[in-house]
Amino acid sequence: MLPWARALRAAGLLRSAGAGAGAGAQRRAPRRERCGPGQRRWAAGPDLRHFLRAAGGEPPPGLELEPEPGPEPEPGPAPGSGRVYMETYGCQMNVNDTEIAWAILQKSGYTRTKRLDEADVILLVTCSIREKAEQTIWNRLRHLGALKARRQQQAGPPLRIGILGCMAERLKEKILHREKLVDIVAGPDAYRDLPRLLAVAESGQQAANVLLSLDETYADILPVQTSAGGTTAFVSIMRGCDNMCSYCIVPFTRGRERSRPIASILQEVRMLSDQGVKEVTLLGQNVNSFRDMSEMQFQSVAAPGLSRGFNTVYRAKPGGLRFAHLLDQVSRIDPEMRIRFTSPHPKDFPDEVLQLIQERHNICKQLHLPAQSGSTRVLEAMRRGYTREAYLELVHHVRDSIPGVSLSSDFIAGFCGETEEDHQQTVSLLQEVRYNVGFLFAYSMREKTRAFHRLQDDVPAEVKQRRLQELITVFREEAARANEAMVGQCQLVLVEGPSKRSALELCGRNDGNIKVVFPDAEVEDAAGNQAPARAQPGDYVLVKVTSASSQTLRGVPLHRTALSRAAACH
Ligand code: 5AD
Ligand code: SF4
Repeated sequence: MLPWARALRAAGLLRSAGAGAGAGAQRRAPRRERCGPGQRRWAAGPDLRHFLRAAGGEPPPGLELEPEPGPEPEPGPAPGSGRVYMETYGCQMNVNDTEIAWAILQKSGYTRTKRLDEADVILLVTCSIREKAEQTIWNRLRHLGALKARRQQQAGPPLRIGILGCMAERLKEKILHREKLVDIVAGPDAYRDLPRLLAVAESGQQAANVLLSLDETYADILPVQTSAGGTTAFVSIMRGCDNMCSYCIVPFTRGRERSRPIASILQEVRMLSDQGVKEVTLLGQNVNSFRDMSEMQFQSVAAPGLSRGFNTVYRAKPGGLRFAHLLDQVSRIDPEMRIRFTSPHPKDFPDEVLQLIQERHNICKQLHLPAQSGSTRVLEAMRRGYTREAYLELVHHVRDSIPGVSLSSDFIAGFCGETEEDHQQTVSLLQEVRYNVGFLFAYSMREKTRAFHRLQDDVPAEVKQRRLQELITVFREEAARANEAMVGQCQLVLVEGPSKRSALELCGRNDGNIKVVFPDAEVEDAAGNQAPARAQPGDYVLVKVTSASSQTLRGVPLHRTALSRAAACH
C-alpha cells in the first residue's frame, strides 16, 4: 500500500472497496465504521474528501469514500466529563478488561460511579460463551432501555449505553440496529478507542469499533485494581486463542493468540507488590501457551514439547520467551506474594513448568486442567487434541510431580453426538480424577464455530440438563471426599475479609484455592514479634481444618504467619 494511503487508513479515513469490517476481521489500527449503505455515520472529523480537495485530486480507483457529511449534530456535553457505571459479565478476563477499559477512560477525564441512577454512561462488559450469558445481557439491556426512556421523559441528563467485549464483537450489527438504545459498541481490542467512541455518542450518534488486532495486549495500560480489600489482583499476560476447539466462540470474539511483553508484566506485578497485594493470578485464554516475541535474542528458541500424547491443530510455534520463564521471573518478585494462573490448556504443561510449581513456595499447588469430556470420541469431535488416556496420563504425571496438588476442570454436557455411553465416560473420569473444583456447563451451540458448521446439536435440551445434573452430583460427591481428606490438617489461608454469612467469621483461600472459613478471633503471631490480634485482609493465617463440604473448609485459626515462614515449616 502507498505510504499516503497507509497513513490515511491508519487515521481511519480510508478503506479498500470490498474489505469488510465484521467480527473476525484481523486488523491493527482502530478505524471508523459504517454499517452499510444509507446508515448513519458513526464518527465525526475530517475525511479523505477534505484531504483530496486540499490536494486538488479525486480518489484513486478502487477506493470507497464515506458519503458527504450531513449537517453537524448539536454539540453534546464536553467529552470526558461524564460519570461511568460499569457492569461485568462472564470470565476473569472480563473483570480485567473492565479495569483496562476503566483505566483508559479515567485517563481521559471520566469519573466512576457505583450508582446507576447518577450515571451518564453505562458500560456492560459482556460474554458470548453460551447462549444463556448473552440472554442475561439482552434482558439487562431492556431494563436499561427503560431507565434511559425515563430519563428522557423527565428531561434529565442524557444517558449513554455501551456494549463492550465479546458480545460486541459477535453481534455488532444486531446490537446497533435492533437495540437502538445502545450508543456505543466496542470489541475486546478496541478499548483504547473508547474516549473517541464516547465523544461521538455524546454528540448523539451511535459509534462502533470491533476491529480485532494481531498485537494489542494493552501492555502499557496499568489496570485500576478494584478487587475487594486489595488483597488479590489479576494480571493479564496474553489475549486471544488459536486452538479452535470446535464448540468455542472465543477465537472469533477475542481473536488470535498474542502475549504481552514480559517486562511490562513484571513491572505490573512489582507495582502490585508495592501496593501490598498478596496474590496475583496471571490471566489469559491459554496462559501456558504464553510466548513473548518482543525480545530479539529469544526469537529463534525452539518450541517446547507438548504434554505427552497431546497434539494441536496448528504447528508448534518456535521462538519467544515461554511460560516457564515468565513464572520463574514473576515468582521471584515477592516471596510473600502467592502466584496462580488461569486458564491453561492441558497440552502445554512441559516438565519445567510442573517442576517450577513444585519447587517454589509461592506458586500455588493448584492446576486447572480443563478436560471438557471423558470420552475420546467426543474429545475428537471437540478437536481438543488429546484422548481420555493421554489426559489421565497427564493427571497422574502432575500428581507425581506436585504432591498434594489441587485440581480443577471444565466439562461440557451434551455436546454434538454425545451418547449415554460417552456421558458415562465423563462420569467415570470425574470419579477417577476426583477434582477439588469443577465448572460444569450444558453445551450451547454457537454460530461461526466448527461444530455449528459441521456437527448436529442433536442432544435434546432436557437430556443435556439431566446429564449436567448428574455430572454436578458426581462432582460434588467427589469434591466433598477430596476436601474431607483435609480435615485435621493445617492449611495456610490468605485472609480476604469477613465471611458473607457471618460478621463473626473470616474468609480466605488455601493454597489449593478452596474457600476456608474460620472464627474472627485474636490470634498469636507465629514469629512472636507482635501482640495477639485479629487477622486482617492480606494476612496469612494457619488454620486447622475441622469440617469440610464440597465447596468450603471450616476450621480454627492457630496463628498469623508469613508465606515464606509457613513454607519452611512444611
Ligand atoms: N457451550 C458450553 N460450554 C462452553 N464452553 C466453551 N464454549 C462452550 C459452549 N459452546 C465452556 C468450556 C470452557 C469454558 C470456559 O466454557 O468448558 O472451558
Ligand atoms: Fe475456547 Fe478451546 Fe480456546 Fe479454551 S482453548 S478459549 S475452549 S477455543
